[in-house]
Amino acid sequence: MRLLIVSNRLPVVLKKEQGKFQFEKGAGGLVSGLSDFLASIGKSESDVNEYIWMGWPGTTIDKTDEDAVKSSLEQKYHASPVFLSQKLMDKVYLGFCNKTIWPIFHYFSNFTSFETDFWSEYTRMNEIFCEELLKEIKPDDIIWVHDYHLMLLPALLREKVNNPIGFFLHIPFPSYEMYRLFSRESRSGILEGLLGADLIGFHTHDYSQYFLQSVLRILGIENHMGYIEMPNRMVKVGTFPMGIEFEKFNEMDVSPFPSAKAAEGQPKMILSVDRLDYSKGIINRLQGFDLFLKRHPEWRGKVFMNMIVVPSRTGVPSYQKIKRTLDELVGNVNGNYSQDDWTPVVYQYTSLPHNELIAKYRKSDVALLTPLRDGMNLVAKEYVASLQDRRGVLVLSEFTGAAKELSETIIINPNSIDEIATGILEALDMPEREQIRRNKIMQKRLKRYDVTKWAHDFVDNLINISKSTGYSANEKLLTPDTQDKLLKHYNEAKNCIIIVNYDGTLVPISKYPGQAKASDELLRLLTRLHENDKSELVIISSRGREDLDNWLGGVPVNLTAEHGSWIKNKTEDDWHLFKPLSAGWKHDILPILEMYADRLPGSFVEEREYSIAWNYKKADIEQSSVLSKEISEHLMSITGNVGVQVLHGNKVIEISNSGVNKGELAMHWLSRKNYDFVLAIGAGWSDELLFQTLPDHAWSVKVGFNQTAARYLVKNQRDAMGILEALADQ
Ligand code: UDP
Ligand code: G6P
Repeated sequence: MRLLIVSNRLPVVLKKEQGKFQFEKGAGGLVSGLSDFLASIGKSESDVNEYIWMGWPGTTIDKTDEDAVKSSLEQKYHASPVFLSQKLMDKVYLGFCNKTIWPIFHYFSNFTSFETDFWSEYTRMNEIFCEELLKEIKPDDIIWVHDYHLMLLPALLREKVNNPIGFFLHIPFPSYEMYRLFSRESRSGILEGLLGADLIGFHTHDYSQYFLQSVLRILGIENHMGYIEMPNRMVKVGTFPMGIEFEKFNEMDVSPFPSAKAAEGQPKMILSVDRLDYSKGIINRLQGFDLFLKRHPEWRGKVFMNMIVVPSRTGVPSYQKIKRTLDELVGNVNGNYSQDDWTPVVYQYTSLPHNELIAKYRKSDVALLTPLRDGMNLVAKEYVASLQDRRGVLVLSEFTGAAKELSETIIINPNSIDEIATGILEALDMPEREQIRRNKIMQKRLKRYDVTKWAHDFVDNLINISKSTGYSANEKLLTPDTQDKLLKHYNEAKNCIIIVNYDGTLVPISKYPGQAKASDELLRLLTRLHENDKSELVIISSRGREDLDNWLGGVPVNLTAEHGSWIKNKTEDDWHLFKPLSAGWKHDILPILEMYADRLPGSFVEEREYSIAWNYKKADIEQSSVLSKEISEHLMSITGNVGVQVLHGNKVIEISNSGVNKGELAMHWLSRKNYDFVLAIGAGWSDELLFQTLPDHAWSVKVGFNQTAARYLVKNQRDAMGILEALADQ
């Protein structure tokens, strides 16, 4: 099985020097972690035995060079480039991705800029990726899209292919209040884009929950334990904390680079490693170290901080600004405290290869990582894993994803300069035995869930979810073969009954209930079905009598309204009650529902002759999900002995006479004759009662991919109509 990795950045960045192309390793955890995982493919036993990585080569090149670059990337790196123009990348990579998404997702609203064409260009870039991928995708490929540059890609791909699609976000997903800072169009567009995937993964449980909350509040879509029901498939949202290649960091021989800790009497080393990014809290860290030196003169000359700062996104003004601030602050600290033979801050503005970095990890006594926000922070895990003798102390910000898994470290809040200074002292003073004890626990954990385990966990989940809920593989899906059997049964039967609901089965669900008028085509179809003497057609709807009369009055079909309170036989002109019903109880219930409607803006009461409904489809989803439970309980407690039933449906609570529902009605129709062919098709929650009461030999079909008591499913309303048309053709 082939894995198609898609990310904005390829593992390497293309550079042209003196007319020749060079490939350099890309910066950041995505490239670093995924490269380690991909290097293991083919070496271990796994369903995935091949991969290709698609992405932007990090620079713009002339058209004439494209073929040469493509073949060289394919041969050397299993990579396939997506070429993008400089103009587009200025708007997308330097624009929407790193001036809008990155600051909002990292809670830096003051660094956010919203330019009008950012969104359309971001959409364009995702479309280009989609077009390029479609040229590459084979039917058995698994597609795994990564990170915030490509959040629209899953839905674009979903429209075109049936392959399993996974998405993983490498940065935090912010809480709803931050997320809603995006324009209305982009905030719903991003969520819809992501929901094209079968599996959406985040580093921490919090990020998953924040995502689900935004989906609920912005799109109004609920989830059940992380599963989201889309119209024709299921999406799973899960937490997969990314790991590192433990053995590499723990076992690599790093000679000739010095990796031993300072000897007694030599200054101790505090290490920090990050891309130069305002989210990394580098300024706070220096201020914390400055405060530490001020408070503890006894440590001056005995400890220094080695800062490895990797150049990043230098084309974005906020990154240029932080570079200037950092240079200045390093100068200040060194100016204030340096002695002849001691410099407090050794600042390296560069990216080191892993062997050199691991040497630094092992050499340092303390690692000080103080991000103000960080999706995961792999450096923290790498540091702990690298400590072969388990000596060394990690001081880590609570705002990193890694802090959730590394709770044995010294956890600090980097917004407090005081906590940073105190954390440094605590780390320097920690006895060796305690350091070893803590690192041992963390190493065990990091070894167990390493990057390969992480990736396989994600891919296995993706395969399972797309197998069990993807519509191509759904066990209940009515296949053409099964439909042929249904038609054969119909043709052979002597007495047939077809029971269908109206909204969602005969007409598409309408945003405005008053506009669900039957088309001429539908009226002709119903008339054709009626012409078959041996078959009876019944339409069971929750709508009132008036709507059904207006839309279907002219065709000879049996109608039932208000979930079955009213019946009109095809041979009669008038409606009659299904059984004696009372409406007296409405006086007591109505004021209660009206009170709740007043309490919850957007909810309203629908009064019919023998039923009342409290509809909360347009209300705030979170408030209504709490309140609706309260109302259900309240109503049940007061209606227990008055012959009234309370049914909790899809964003509606219906109160009606006991024993009046689609199930009871179906029994009524079925008892009139000995039908040897029974077919029921329904789309709504109230049709479930209908499916449950049907005899064993009945055909029951649910429209849409929800949990259902029906024996079969069809994808959508069009497919439901297809069954009826096929029956009418017999
Ligand atoms: N890294 C590196 N050389 C350096 C500094 C960092 O290879 O000089 C790697 C480091 O090993 C880690 C990644 O860059 O794997 C940084 O990932 P992290 O999750 O910590 O932060 P990100 O840059 O993705 O925000
Ligand atoms: C973070 C992001 C990655 C990104 C990396 C480096 O790790 O999650 O998607 O590749 O930073 O940033 P850059 O802008 O150089 O790709």
